[in-house]
Amino acid sequence: MRGVLVMLLASCRALRPAALRFAARRRSGAALTTMSAAAPPRKKVKSIVEVSPDSVIGETVTVKGWARTVRAQKALGFLEVNDGSSFGGLQVVFEGDLVQSLKGVGTGCAVSIEGEVVKGGGKQPIELKASSFELVGGCEGDYPLQKKRHSLEFLRSIAHLRPRTNTLAAAARIRSTLAQAVHAFFDEEGFNYVHSPIITTSDCEGAGEMFRVTSLDGKDLSRSSEKNDFADDFFARSAYLTVSGQLSGEAYACALGDVYTFGPTFRAENSQTARHLAEFWMIEPEIAFADASGAMDNAEAMMKFVIKKALADCRKDLEFCDKFYGNNELIERLTSISGSEPFLRLSYTDAVSLLQEEIAKDPKKWQFPDVEFGTDLATEHERWLAEVHAGGRCVFVYDYPRSIKSFYMRDNDDKQTVAAFDLLAPGVGELVGGSQREESYDKLVAKMKEFGLDPEDYWWYLDLRKYGSVPHAGYGLGFDRLVCYVAAIENIRDSIPFPRYPGSAQF
Ligand code: 4AD
Ligand code: MG
Repeated sequence: MRGVLVMLLASCRALRPAALRFAARRRSGAALTTMSAAAPPRKKVKSIVEVSPDSVIGETVTVKGWARTVRAQKALGFLEVNDGSSFGGLQVVFEGDLVQSLKGVGTGCAVSIEGEVVKGGGKQPIELKASSFELVGGCEGDYPLQKKRHSLEFLRSIAHLRPRTNTLAAAARIRSTLAQAVHAFFDEEGFNYVHSPIITTSDCEGAGEMFRVTSLDGKDLSRSSEKNDFADDFFARSAYLTVSGQLSGEAYACALGDVYTFGPTFRAENSQTARHLAEFWMIEPEIAFADASGAMDNAEAMMKFVIKKALADCRKDLEFCDKFYGNNELIERLTSISGSEPFLRLSYTDAVSLLQEEIAKDPKKWQFPDVEFGTDLATEHERWLAEVHAGGRCVFVYDYPRSIKSFYMRDNDDKQTVAAFDLLAPGVGELVGGSQREESYDKLVAKMKEFGLDPEDYWWYLDLRKYGSVPHAGYGLGFDRLVCYVAAIENIRDSIPFPRYPGSAQF
C-alpha cells in the first residue's frame, strides 16, 4: 500500500508542469505556446539590463517573471517583464503568430519567455525578441495592482502583494543590500556575530515594555499571574520577547572582544508613530576595552560603509526613491554623508542651549517648547538638530542626563550625566542609541537599586563585573530606521516586509 502511495506521488510530480500550464490556460483563457524542448539558460533580468548591451546582444535566453504591462496589436506585441532582480524590467517584443499568445495575458501574469537579446527599437538600448512564450500563472481580473500609482497606505492593506510595486521592491532590495553590508563591515573589522536569544527573562532597558512569552492558557495563566511568579510556566519564571540583545552581547564581548548582534527586537510600547514598530531589527555591537567615543567612531564608520555599499549596488532603486520621495536630494545627501567629512558631535548640554535659543525665537512653532537640562528630547528637537543645526548631516549628541537614560550606562565624573550618545539623522531623528557601560560592580549594584531594579534578577550580568571586568561600550542601531533614512521612506511601516504595530499583525 505504501509503495502504491509513493508511486502515485511520484507520478503526480511528473505531471505537475503540464497540469500547471493547463491551470493557467483555464483561468486566463490565454492561448499557450509550449516552450521548446531544450530551453536556453535562464537569465535574471538584472544580468541583461544592467550590463553593457554589447555583452548580451545576440544571446538566446529564457526570462521568467511577472508581466508589468502588455500591449498587443495585430502583428506586434509588447510585454514588459520584471523578475524582481533589478529595478527596471525587460521589454519583450512579439511578432507574427506569437502575438496571439498574448491574448488574455495582462498585468500580474507570471510568464516565461525564450528569445534573443537584440538592439532596442525605441528608447531602450536592448529588448528581447520572443521566440517562444509560456503563461506560467494567470492573473485574475480583480488583481489590485493595476498600472497606476497606489497610496502607500492602501498598499499596507495588501502587504502580501505590495512587494510587486516599484516602491516596495526598491525598499526590499535596499534593505537586503544594507543587511549584507552590515555583516560585511563587522566581518572586515574583525567582529564576531553573536546570536542573542529572542526569548529572555531580563528587561535590558528596564522600561517594562515587553511582550510576555508563555505556554500557559486560560485559567492557568490567571492563576499564575495572581501569584505573579510564573513557576508553573514553561521556563518556570516570567519570560518575554527580547527588547535588546545588549546584555548577551556584553557577556560575549567580555570573552571575544568585539561582537555584534543583528536580530529582531520587540517592544510593547503603544506608539502609532511613523518611527516605531512593535517588532523591529536592531544591530548591537559591543566593544571591549572601548569608551563611548570609540563606540561613536565605530557607528560612524559603519554608517558610511553601508551607505556607500547601497549607493554602489542599488543605484537604480535609489534614483527612483530620490525622484519620488527624496526631493531629488537623496543621492547627493547619501554621497555627502558617506564621504570623508565627519559627523557633527555635540554635548547634550550644548544641544539644549541651542534649542532654547531657537525655540525662544518663535515658541508657537514647537509642539514641545519647554526644553531644559533633563528633558528627553522629542523627535521635533532631534530633527531640528540634524536638519537645521547640522545642515542636513548626521549628528551625535552625547553626555545625556543620567536620570533619563538606562541603569547600565556609566556615570560621568560630574554625577549629572552618563557617557551615553544618540545619533540623530535628518528626516528620522534617533537612529542609534549607545553608551559606555558601567564596569564597576559596586556602582552598578547601587544604580540598579536607585532605578528600582532587583540586582538578584541580573546576577549573571553583575558577574561580568566580578570576573575580569573591563571598560566596554556599544550601541544599538535601529535597522528599519536606517532603511527609512537611506531610501527616503517616510513611514517605518514601509521599510519592513510585514510591519507589526498596535492592532496590526494580520499578514
Ligand atoms: O535607544 P535604544 O532603546 O537602545 C537600546 O536598546 C540599547 N540596549 C542599545 C545598545 O546600546 N546595545 O534602541 C536603539 C535603537 C534606537 O536608536 C532606534 O533606532 C531603534 O533602536 N528603536 C526602534 N526602532 C523601531 N521601532 C521601535 N519601537 C524602536 N525602539 C528603538
Ligand atoms: Mg534610545
